[in-house]
Amino acid sequence: MLPSTLSKRLFSSSVKSQYKVTVLGASGGIGQPLSLLMKLNHKVSELRLYDLRLAKGVATDLSHIPTDSKVIGFSNQEEDGLAKALDNADVVLIPAGVPRKPGMTRDDLFSINAGIVRDLATAVAKNCPNASICVISNPVNSTVPIVAKVLQKHGVYNPKKLFGVTTLDIIRASRFISEVEGTNPTQERVNVVGGHSGITIIPLISQTTHNLMPKEVKDKLINRIQFGGDEVVKAKDGAGSATLSMSYAGSIFADHVLKGLSGEKDVVVNSFVDSPLYKEEGIDFFSSPVTLGPDGISHIHPIGELSTEEEAMLVECKETLKKNIAKGYKFVEESK
Ligand code: NAI
Repeated sequence: MLPSTLSKRLFSSSVKSQYKVTVLGASGGIGQPLSLLMKLNHKVSELRLYDLRLAKGVATDLSHIPTDSKVIGFSNQEEDGLAKALDNADVVLIPAGVPRKPGMTRDDLFSINAGIVRDLATAVAKNCPNASICVISNPVNSTVPIVAKVLQKHGVYNPKKLFGVTTLDIIRASRFISEVEGTNPTQERVNVVGGHSGITIIPLISQTTHNLMPKEVKDKLINRIQFGGDEVVKAKDGAGSATLSMSYAGSIFADHVLKGLSGEKDVVVNSFVDSPLYKEEGIDFFSSPVTLGPDGISHIHPIGELSTEEEAMLVECKETLKKNIAKGYKFVEESK
């Protein structure tokens, strides 16, 4: 018999480091490069791709890459395509839905994406209720509450395994602050908290080592982090929003989830989750650092000390978040 510490180590970190990952919306601007990056992730044993178009083609393309995972494409044209794609999945990544065009806010996407996310969440509830669900589809501030409500309706809601992916805000903050300060972006880490749209994105510059002066420099940086997505939407001139940087961000996030599941220690990442931090004020979801483990979230960290300006940003953020979350809840409550 194995000594218990050794058996624990074997079973927690080496034996089950093979995970089934499903990407819903896998043929899209984010879906394709995200699927490529997941094909390169050695913790993935089976990669299932689902979309309304082209998923089998994308899967066949990726299947020629010699990493140790199987790739399977599923279409909505085949019987139970979505159910098969999700069957017993460990992690589900959801970048399905429409992206922004110039002049649109993320909230403008609600009317289309809310229904898409609701229906996909219903399929998750039926086919892989134990999966870690990573929501990329915007508006994240509302789509994550939608998924939570759908799972609740089906009696399978596990708040420890539902994540809104806000990693793009984190990587933008690293990049943009390094451009201002002339530093190495790989060494920069900004704690970005709140939500994932405009003023709900709060980069806590006061927690970095940088003393950005004069104030205009800092304000400009904060604004760029909050509205960085608009730069891409404008530059793509009607052809979509961030896809490549987002797929990079999504793959980093998914890798953290997989590391947590496989029992790695001290896996901490920021995410928009069902959070106790401001629940008493009626805000059920909030992004802050969370520690991940084999059962999903093991600890939700507070956001830390804020400057007076950041406190003011938090007040505005909470007002908007409350509305965004309520909008998601209402949508599910009013759905048949
Ligand atoms: P896209 O239009 O290029 O791709 C979306 C894909 O979803 C398409 O292939 C479409 O066929 C598929 N799709 C639509 N309805 C579906 C359904 N019911 N089931 C399965 N697949 C379905 O859009 P893109 O650029 O990939 O963006 C996807 C979403 O990600 C958008 O909502 C966008 O706003 C969001 N996004 C989120 C970010 C974040 O930081 N969380 C950053 C950038 C974009």
